[in-house]
Amino acid sequence: MFDLTGKTALVTGAGQSVGAGIAAALAAQGCHVFVNDVVAERAEHTAAAIRATGAVATAVPFDVTDAEAVQASVDELGPIDILVNNAGNAGAHSFAPKQFVDMEPSEYARFVDVNLFGVMHCTRAVLVGMQARRWGRVITIASGAGTVGNRMGISAYGAAKGGAIAFMRHIAIESARRGVTANSLALGLMANTDGGAFTEQIAKTIPVGRLGTPADIGAACVWLASNEGAWVTGQTITIDGGSNPS
Ligand SMILES: NC(=O)c1ccc[n+]([C@@H]2O[C@H](COP(=O)([O-])OP(=O)(O)OC[C@H]3O[C@@H](n4cnc5c(N)ncnc54)[C@H](O)[C@@H]3O)[C@@H](O)[C@H]2O)c1
Repeated sequence: MFDLTGKTALVTGAGQSVGAGIAAALAAQGCHVFVNDVVAERAEHTAAAIRATGAVATAVPFDVTDAEAVQASVDELGPIDILVNNAGNAGAHSFAPKQFVDMEPSEYARFVDVNLFGVMHCTRAVLVGMQARRWGRVITIASGAGTVGNRMGISAYGAAKGGAIAFMRHIAIESARRGVTANSLALGLMANTDGGAFTEQIAKTIPVGRLGTPADIGAACVWLASNEGAWVTGQTITIDGGSNPS
């Protein structure tokens, strides 16, 4: 079960944290992982760490917000069977929360560009080939911020994540008869988030009693990417230690 031998996967923003864990999990199941990041050294670092385990990985640095660069890079790679849209958090650096009324309109784009348009550019670049080959998996790493409101000051980020979730639902239906599935994972707070006492406080409120890890998300991606995940499409799966039961 869950064997990915012979498949290729592109994981965006995989130079560190969650994306690096997803890339490692997919590679461990036997597929060739293309490790993307806008920061080239990060992509190289993750790819080298995967190769050190005996698995197959290649670094492919590009900016997911640059539609032409995405298409050109994907054209060079050849057929991609599995796309994980992981790049996010509003750019190469994370962001300081701010209430919406304190934001200027000029600040919205940095959230939408990477968390929504980046997802659309990468999906567009691989989907034609997936549909033609009648096999493909598109997985978007979203957030509870895209499904549930909160007072943290992340409304623009949440709007972009919610847009990506809706986009996956449509892609799922447009592709359903062509062997391609499309799903979103709505993550809760991850252990890599540098929030100090704030994240420690949140961890105490999570029913299972801990923050999420890259391995938690990697395992879910392996399932959705596998042949065994073929009947799961158009879904938003919450992975948050039980914070938002539905
Ligand atoms: N960390 C959390 O608590 C949390 C919670 C919910 C959802 N998420 C989502 O999970 C995903 C991964 O988050 P993370 O915590 O690992 O983030 P991170 O900031 O640690 O890593 C993101 C990586 O993406 C890269 N990146 C950023 N913009 C890019 C671009 N335009 N093109 C290519 N690469 C780019 C960065 O260089 C970085 O290496 C994101 O989509 C994030 O929104 C994270």
